[in-house]
Amino acid sequence: METRILPLAKQDVLFTPLNTTSHPFENPSLTVSGPTALYLKEAAVLLRGNSVVAFPTETVYGLGANALCSEAVSKIYLAKSRPADNPLILHVASLRTLRNLLGPYSLPSIYEPLIAKFWPGPLTILLPLDKTSTAISSLCTSGQSTFAVRMPQHPLALALLHTADVPLAAPSANTSTRPSPTTAQHVYHDLAGRIPLILDGGPCEVGLESTVADGLVSPPQILRPGGISVEQIRTITGWEHTVVHRPGVKSQDEVPRTPGMKYRHYSPTAKIFLFESTSSPPDRAFLEQEGLLDANIAICRTREWSQQLAQSLGSNVTEYSMGSTGHEIARRLFALLRELDDRDTKVILMEGITEGEEGLAVMNRLRKAATVIVD
Ligand code: TXA
Ligand code: MG
Repeated sequence: METRILPLAKQDVLFTPLNTTSHPFENPSLTVSGPTALYLKEAAVLLRGNSVVAFPTETVYGLGANALCSEAVSKIYLAKSRPADNPLILHVASLRTLRNLLGPYSLPSIYEPLIAKFWPGPLTILLPLDKTSTAISSLCTSGQSTFAVRMPQHPLALALLHTADVPLAAPSANTSTRPSPTTAQHVYHDLAGRIPLILDGGPCEVGLESTVADGLVSPPQILRPGGISVEQIRTITGWEHTVVHRPGVKSQDEVPRTPGMKYRHYSPTAKIFLFESTSSPPDRAFLEQEGLLDANIAICRTREWSQQLAQSLGSNVTEYSMGSTGHEIARRLFALLRELDDRDTKVILMEGITEGEEGLAVMNRLRKAATVIVD
């Protein structure tokens, strides 16, 4: 299969909130101009024909398919080689669509202030699923009694949802276990020949996936830290006591709360040593002890490690700066892991950060990607 990449411009999308008395995205209208309009129509035709399309969101690129059609959703699992028991996030462009998905249920009131504050945006919520009447393909929910949904902020993602006029199931558009894609080129690298179309909207602003929040339990839980921080969520009425779910050791047949979290994730080919923020930086003795004196090594600095560290370790060590703010580090992380693979890096020595604000999501991804955690 040939994989085409079409360039889209977010300036071509204009959203008009229709009703100022409720949420602006209750039922918004949209105008798209220029080639972007044409390309979105092509993508919509594919999606309505039960094919898959990769598209930009503010978090990472998604691989979308009509969430109401199992034939379409099965193509996501196939293209990504994703395990079938890892459920997908649905994406909507209006609250009206969300209400349709809920069927007999109404939106639990705990979500109202959360949605008012953070949608559209990098926040996914869990909602009750009525298994007998739902139109959602069971492949999206893989046996859970809930479904996960978010309203993305990226104008091109909203415009695609609007043009296709179906909710899209969309996991990150990478091959399973690889770092999530934050550019159209990353998607192409992983999925060329396996999907017909990639919509290119440039690099993603957030760089890590959405936060997954469960307000159906008390106290509410964060199942996956992401683009909206726990601190931000705790400012919302009803969410003050939100806890972060940390998957413990589970018996083999227990269904994990966030099924995605049990798999190997975000892994480049290189071996990653993650230095927790409190551990001291690597030195020559460390390299010797690990047998790394001649390896092609990358040092990824964040906040504390010195610019001279790489040089002091040897000529086989190259230095990369990930940035210093949580936002910068989050945005750069996955792209850097992929870049280091392209450079044939064998070992990555990564400086961890503290877990406040964006730090929680960054460290969550790094711990999953790491081969060894040094503390
Ligand atoms: O930012 C994002 O969320 C991106 C973009 C494309 O929107 N999407 C994304 O999807 O990261 P994915 O499939 O890579 O991650 C979905 C996560 C997994 O950890 C999965 O287990 C969890 O959401 N999830 C989905 N449905 C769930 C459910 N009903 N209950 C608990 N966890 C669920
Ligand atoms: Mg993913």
